[in-house]
Amino acid sequence: MRVGSGIASRVGARRPGWDLCEVADLDVAGACGLLAVARALVPIASGEPGARRAAAGVGEALRGAIILSLFSEPSTRTRLSFSVAARRLGADIIDFVHDGNSSASKGETELDALRNLDAMGFAAIVARDRRDGHARHLCGVMRARVVNAGDGIGEHPTQALLDALTVLEAFGREPVPGALRGLRVAICGDVRHGRVAHSDIQLMALLGADVVIAGPEELASAELARKYGVARAPTLDAAVAGAHVAIMLRVQRERLTDVQVASDAAYHGEWGLNARRVGLLDPRGVVLHPGPMNRGVEIADEVADGPRSRVLRQVTLGVAVRMAVLARACGVELSSCLEGQEVAR
Ligand code: CP
Repeated sequence: MRVGSGIASRVGARRPGWDLCEVADLDVAGACGLLAVARALVPIASGEPGARRAAAGVGEALRGAIILSLFSEPSTRTRLSFSVAARRLGADIIDFVHDGNSSASKGETELDALRNLDAMGFAAIVARDRRDGHARHLCGVMRARVVNAGDGIGEHPTQALLDALTVLEAFGREPVPGALRGLRVAICGDVRHGRVAHSDIQLMALLGADVVIAGPEELASAELARKYGVARAPTLDAAVAGAHVAIMLRVQRERLTDVQVASDAAYHGEWGLNARRVGLLDPRGVVLHPGPMNRGVEIADEVADGPRSRVLRQVTLGVAVRMAVLARACGVELSSCLEGQEVAR
């Protein structure tokens, strides 16, 4: 389901700052700039005790700003990490859902609700929705800048940024153009319905990685590989052999309408990352998963909890990325608050 057509934009002047609806909203310099700021924010984002001095300036950066969180689809990591990120910058963040607990129950349309919210003067909006293109649609309705926290089977750009930061850190790379050159990134599983996959493919390629997708034909087709200009491996073994990064994706069963996927056990046998397959990775290879994980389906327990797993590190780095993205959305430059934190080289 796609939204965005049929409603003429009647929004007034947009607020200062920048939207982030898709990876295509970033050029390589913009992506590297965000990654550099996020990297410098990591000690503050993760609440490390030694970061208190630096945190003082950063913690005031969005003081007085109120961010609107519009999550109409379930989320654990993204919703909470945007909330933590906003609070670490000194902003308030409040939630709204256009459902039976709102005036939707009295007949108010969603568009009217959004216009009324916009009239309250939010600094930025973070939105997750089941409809593809919803974040872009909001840009035509709201003055506040919009950050896409996942739109249907569209994109999830902040997840791609945190995945890229995780890979940079794992391989000791600087956030500069070409940062991922020479690294093979295998994106495996339900690529078709995976908004993380759509954003990851584009951002990893933008940073110079050699990207390969793999999964059942109906979830990771040759046509999809052609669309993104990446390779497709016929098996999971072939995808991960020699790869530096394996990004495992769950099968989005709630979005399957026209395809049948094997049982969990059969899927795991053919497309699940187990200890044997991890052994095929490059010796320095790491395993990422955006979560939520379906253990015993796309990833085995011993891999999810094993030494190659960067799954929880992704979550920590996600707070730093979302701090950088929220500041950008509000038009606030964090570099001056981060002096001595090595924002860029
Ligand atoms: N990675 C991710 O989007 O997780 P949540 O659905 O829990 O936010």
